[in-house]
Amino acid sequence: MEMHVLDSLKPALEFSRELLRFLLKVIYIIARESVLIILPKKKKSLSGEVVLITGSAQGIGRQLALNLAREGAKIVLWDINEDKLKNVAKEISDDGGRAEWFVCDVTSESDVNAKARLVEQKVGEVTILINNAGIMQNLPMLELSSTGIKKTMEVNLLAHFWTIRAFLPSMEKNNHGHIVGISSCAGLVGHVNQIDYSASKHGVVGLMEALSEELRLKKSNVKLTTICPLTVNTGMNQNPITRCSWMMPIVGVEDAAHQIVDAIKREDFIVTLPRRIRFSLSLARILPHQVLSEFLDFTDYCRVKNSDILPKKENDS
Ligand SMILES: NC(=O)c1ccc[n+]([C@@H]2O[C@H](COP(=O)([O-])OP(=O)(O)OC[C@H]3O[C@@H](n4cnc5c(N)ncnc54)[C@H](O)[C@@H]3O)[C@@H](O)[C@H]2O)c1
Repeated sequence: MEMHVLDSLKPALEFSRELLRFLLKVIYIIARESVLIILPKKKKSLSGEVVLITGSAQGIGRQLALNLAREGAKIVLWDINEDKLKNVAKEISDDGGRAEWFVCDVTSESDVNAKARLVEQKVGEVTILINNAGIMQNLPMLELSSTGIKKTMEVNLLAHFWTIRAFLPSMEKNNHGHIVGISSCAGLVGHVNQIDYSASKHGVVGLMEALSEELRLKKSNVKLTTICPLTVNTGMNQNPITRCSWMMPIVGVEDAAHQIVDAIKREDFIVTLPRRIRFSLSLARILPHQVLSEFLDFTDYCRVKNSDILPKKENDS
């Protein structure tokens, strides 16, 4: 009779034990991550790594290439702009670094696969992949063309699938590798005139999070980092404006590249630029939606002028 009671209690005891283990792990992870905010995390060396950066002919990609070359990495530059690619490669070699460039349209799965094979032959196996190429239309929903919407998805989201599927196999084979997805703060909250862009960047966050689960269950050592910058003063955002630079700053391209390299070396999973903005963005997710709208109105961040859908402010021209 006693045995029978004990047997019936077994599942409940097992469940309680697992619940306790789960809660202890959660407390440990929160404590560890809190300490790591204050204490510097161990940074890995990037010397000798083969780093492929898409969209590296200009902007953030170019600056990342320059910084990573200075870390001793071999750089592989991919872009559709041949002239600018050559210039970046020359800048790197003039600076004493190593770089190879390849014209590659990341929206074409066949071009990605063909260039991936060429890279392996000419440079070696890619150990760090940075999916950086991106475009932005900056238009309200009804002014977007269907071709434009598809293009945004192809460059900003689908291309990540093609490059990851091209380079993950060798990373898994060697049990060594790192994939970086350049998303955006628009991948965490929606922003006016960035509907297609925001959707594609939310997609990148989802892709990276889901992939991390797959890799974790496979006990893979391949690392993932997602970067969500606020506006960076380069390339797709010329002369951006902010009303509250202390709260919502415009990030300089050199600072952005420095912080991205730092996040790779620390093997951080998801990082906003600047880091401190992550708290406000997470808060915006749990507070009523109107709070986010009030926040966006108050900060007036990178509000696109002359758009019919936006209320005009007194100082708008
Ligand atoms: N600049 C910002 O404010 C900002 C903010 C958050 C996130 N981001 C993200 O950072 C990344 C880089 O932004 P940026 O400001 O340096 O942009 P940028 O426009 O200066 O550079 C983008 C590069 O991607 C290349 N590219 C475009 N389509 C391509 C294709 N099909 N194949 C290969 N290359 C292609 C372009 O030729 C260009 O060299 C993007 O993913 C962007 O969404 C930028």
